[in-house]
Parts: sequence; structure tokens; C-alpha cells
Amino acid sequence: MADESDPTTADVLVVGSGVAGCAAALGAARAGEDVVVATKAERPKDATSWWAQGGVAVSRSNAEGFKRDIVAASDDTADPDAVDVLVENANEAVRDVLIETLDVPFDTEADDPDTFDYGREAAHGERRILHVNASTGRHVLGPFLSYLDDHPNVTLREDTAALDLLTREGRVHGALCEHDGDLDPIYAGSTVLATGGIGALYGRSTNPDGATGDGIAMAALAGADVADMEYVQFHPTAYAGEVATPFLLSEALRGEGAILRNDDGDRFMPEHHPDAELAPRDVVARAVAAERERTGDVLLDVSSLDFTTEFPDLATNCDERDVDHRTGIPVAPAEHFLCGGIAVDSRGRTSLDRLFAVGECSRTGVHGANRLASTSLLEGLVWGLRAGRTAAASGADPEIVDVPDLRDSDPALPAAFAAEKFTRLREVMDEFVGLSRSPSGLRRASAAIRRLKGEVDAYVRTRTSRELYELRAATVTALLITRAARENTDSRGCHHLVVTTDEPEVHAD
Ligand code: SIN
Repeated sequence: MADESDPTTADVLVVGSGVAGCAAALGAARAGEDVVVATKAERPKDATSWWAQGGVAVSRSNAEGFKRDIVAASDDTADPDAVDVLVENANEAVRDVLIETLDVPFDTEADDPDTFDYGREAAHGERRILHVNASTGRHVLGPFLSYLDDHPNVTLREDTAALDLLTREGRVHGALCEHDGDLDPIYAGSTVLATGGIGALYGRSTNPDGATGDGIAMAALAGADVADMEYVQFHPTAYAGEVATPFLLSEALRGEGAILRNDDGDRFMPEHHPDAELAPRDVVARAVAAERERTGDVLLDVSSLDFTTEFPDLATNCDERDVDHRTGIPVAPAEHFLCGGIAVDSRGRTSLDRLFAVGECSRTGVHGANRLASTSLLEGLVWGLRAGRTAAASGADPEIVDVPDLRDSDPALPAAFAAEKFTRLREVMDEFVGLSRSPSGLRRASAAIRRLKGEVDAYVRTRTSRELYELRAATVTALLITRAARENTDSRGCHHLVVTTDEPEVHAD
């Protein structure tokens, strides 16, 4: 049980150590607050940000053009106020944090080391993406974590999973965490959730295994509002081979001229959208899925690029899997990003007092029904800084509140139980709550996930382990996604509804 004789306290607790969590920690630490970053990651590469390839879009000198592209990619559903916040803070946040504080080695023009080599990706009207080769995430997150590790106001606690929020009368006072089987409440004046995405809910994802929706589930169970949960984005071009060794073929490849061919060798994207391979991500993902279904393999043809020179990291990924890029790289859609999440305002405040959320677990409104490429690190950076500063300015002191009456930590949860339930959950999400959904499929998913959740909850009443809480988070989040998808009959962006005439009538819960 928790050791109440020596409670851990912080002015600001940040849960999660991707770019958004790091930015929140930096924002609060710069304001002089004591910050604890609790992360279940054991290594930096356990955070989804590490895996980000494309880069960080900036507005350069055309803010209005950038805003237009975000809104167009979202099929006109992005919140214009949130888009203003993102774009108008982009250049300054990137300059201040990524360039001047962290010295991220963004690529520059071959013949001019003082000029950035801005990349282009799908649905961007111009070159505006700062990148480090096609592995930008690790080149941002690595220096960020090192910087925070050396910061006198920041304590990094790795391999420390938040299981539940500590609440009293609708106010959040920190989180109950687990490290090495021991339970440890961390009491905080303000709590910032930055727990990332939901890739573990799907069979094929570009996220690391730990993306189990923890923050979303904890916040929702504590009563926080969530929004846009139905908008699960699938990346069109993940490597189609073994799912145990996933990797992404960055949108930057299509930005630089790579094209998609079906199993007959035909280029098909021009039939689906006037922008062909540079169409919004949801459009390309559905077209790739349809062509795979119709003809077999879909290949990304990179023959017009100097692939090994311009994208050496991706070339290495291919070599490691014995994929000969010269004959085309087999690709398939994979779950990539949740556009919705915990509802927040322009400063990352949730509907619960003293609780903030940033990054992929949050819903700022910037992405609407479909996210524009290379805006997620940027959103995490901008909202992270704002939330960290706002949490610091609130000046709330940590309070010691009652810890939920949990069972002794029991890491001996039968591994087979968790593995079996996760497999079942993924099967249900893949079949019924994937790239395309139908009312009857969503209804079946809802019933199946409810059953699973019932079984998981029965375990939660008798024992406590990180794996079990991850499973609980995944089932709660899956149910939120499915419920939102059932309630939204407007087929748009990443929520693609296929309704056949023999569909029975839909009843949302
Ligand atoms: C990519 O490199 O294609 C991913 C970029 C993103 O998801 O924003």
C-alpha cells in the first residue's frame, strides 16, 4: 500500500514525458515552480513523440496560409480560435524552445547552412516543415529530456505509472502512481496530463505499446469532459509487413514526389482526389485500404527520389527488414493519432479544477475531424508551454487528500489475462471502429467492449497492477471512442460511416 509517512509533493505534476509533457514542465519550471514529471516510460523511446518522423510545421511568413491548410485538412471542422492560437504562437515557440534552448539540429539547405531546409507534406500548400532527416521526434525529445534532467526545478521519475487521479470535491490534487510494484501518491497543486495516444487499442499502429489511453481514461473516470473521440486518424503509409516491427513511411516522402501504386502497378490516387498523393490523410488512408482490398499489395514508389541519401533513416528501416525499396515499399494504413481527447481551452485547462491536459491526450479543437501532418509536435509544444505557465500562475499548493482504497499492488496479474483481453479489444476495434464504421458494427463493438470492461473491472476490484490499469484505461477509452462514433451520424474526416440500406436503426447509448 501507499507509504503515507513520506508523501511526494509538487507544485506541478506532469504525467507523461513526450514533447507536450516536457513543454508543460518547462513552462512551469521557468516560472519557478517545483515540477515532478512522472512517466511510465523507462526509456525516451517509449514516448510516441520519439517516433515522430515528419517534423514541426511553422507559419514562416504566411500564417493565413497555414491556418487555411489546417482547416481544409480537417474538412472545415477545426475550431478557428484554436487554430489561431496554434499558428500565431508557432514561430515563437519553435524559436525560443527548439532552436535557442534545445539547439535542435534542424536540416538546412545543402549550400546554405544558415537557411532551413523546409519540407513539404500532404495537404500543406507550401514548404513549411522543419525536420531532422525523417526522425525529427527523437532529435527534439532527446535534448528536451536532457535539458529538463539538468533543470533545478524539475524531477524526472521514470518507470512511474499514474493509475488514478487524486480528487476531492471535483478538484484534482495529483495522481496515485506505481513504481516497481509500490504505490506512491504524488500530491500536486496542479496536475497536467500528457499521456499521449491510443495506439495499443488497434492491431496496427505507429505508436509504442504503452499508448493505452491512460490520461483520457483517468480524466473521464474523474468526471472531466472529453470531445471528438470518434476522430481516430490512420496514417496511410505504415510498413505493411510484420506488425511486431512497425515503422512509418513519412508523409514527407509523398511531399517530395513518392507515389502510390496498386498491385497491378497502377497509380490510383488521382482518381480519388485532385491533389492525388498530397490529399488529406484520411482520404489517402481510405484509398490505400480500398486498393489493398481490391488488388492486393499497395506499394510506395520512391524511385523518383534519391531515397537513401535524402531519407537515410527510412532506408535503414527498409534494409533491416529486407525490403528492397527499389521495387516499392509495401504500405498499409495504421492507427496513428487521436484528434479528440480531454476537452481543454486555449491554456490547456480541463473542465476539472486544477487539471490540465496537453498533447495527444487532449482535444484543443485544432484538428477537428482530421489532423494536418506535422502539427502534433507543434500543438504539444504550444499548448504544453501555455498549460505549464498557467498551472504555475495559479499558485495552487499541493494538498494531501485521501488515497483511493486500492488493493495491494499485485504484479502477479496473470499475464495471459491481460494479453488475451488486449487481443480481443484490438480485434473488436480493428473490425468495427477502424477506418470505416457502420452503425451495426459500432453497436456490436459497444456490446463487446462493455463485456470486456466488466471483466476487467472485476479484476480491478481485487488487485492493482500497472498492466491491469492499462487494460482498464484501454477499455474505458475504447468505449468513449465507440460511444462518440455511435452518437455522430455525420460522416466526416476520420469518422467515415458506411451506412447500407439494410442497416437496422441506430440507437446511441
Ligand atoms: C509523418 O511523418 O508522416 C507523420 C507526421 C505527422 O504525423 O504529423
